[in-house]
Amino acid sequence: MLTVDSISKSFGGLTAVNSCSFTIESQSITGLIGPNGAGKTTIFNVIAGAMKPDGGRVQFQGTNITGQPAHTLFHLGIMRTFQIPQEFFAMTVLENLMVVPAKQSGENLFYALLSPGNVAAREKEVRERAIDVLDFLRLTHVVDELAGNLSGGQKKLLELGRAMMALLDEPGAGVNPTLLGELAEMIERLNKERHYTFCIIEHNMDMIARLCDPVIVMVEGAVLMQGDMDTVRADPRVLDAYLGGDLHVAPN
Ligand SMILES: Nc1ncnc2c1ncn2[C@@H]1O[C@H](COP(=O)(O)OP(=O)(O)OP(=O)(O)O)[C@@H](O)[C@H]1O
Ligand SMILES: [Mg+2]
Repeated sequence: MLTVDSISKSFGGLTAVNSCSFTIESQSITGLIGPNGAGKTTIFNVIAGAMKPDGGRVQFQGTNITGQPAHTLFHLGIMRTFQIPQEFFAMTVLENLMVVPAKQSGENLFYALLSPGNVAAREKEVRERAIDVLDFLRLTHVVDELAGNLSGGQKKLLELGRAMMALLDEPGAGVNPTLLGELAEMIERLNKERHYTFCIIEHNMDMIARLCDPVIVMVEGAVLMQGDMDTVRADPRVLDAYLGGDLHVAPN
């Protein structure tokens, strides 16, 4: 589905991503792990169109999408979760989901003037879809609550709701164990029942082990190895890369 081909990105003299290549298979939950500073977030930024690489290509379903802006990628179904921006806290949970499909027909004045019925139909469709997503995430009881009043874990669920084919950068950070389990379950269900593809950066190895196959290990800007979590755990090069850190313990 998504191919990262020899991507490089430097900041001044520092090479953050060094000819990095990997593939995310359709309908997989792919984990991206590696020590701090390995280049994981940078590669997400490049895939998600937030940063232009110095070299290399990103292909989505065979189309070169390198350097395409985030809103173009969104329409292709690629979205990266971000923490919900402060201004969205003043909107309700439902509104937060309804503003996601940006650049839809209602925003185009000419389109609105020409076919108002169409806009109303589209809004109804977006509302139904949002309610469906909230139901799925078991957030129906807070549908009219301001997003700013949600708990930390509920905010993470809402972020997930805002994502489609999702690049998740540390979705579990700062989430308590109970809600972490719930978040993992939602990702699992979105994958199994609705066939969403995920790529997840996470330092919590239990969460990676539960969800991800394959797991890609990045070290110093490039892929060290890839495999299922048991293979990754058994590879001495991976332990070395974590500088003797114990992979069985979440390195927080
Ligand atoms: N905007 C930037 N300007 C300068 N250096 C940067 C920038 N972004 C990242 N870097 C550097 O690039 C390297 C890779 O950083 P990156 O954030 O991609 O790592 P990471 O794998 O996501 O780490 P972590 O697990 O700690 O989140 C680091 O050395 C970092 O200091
Ligand atoms: Mg990071």
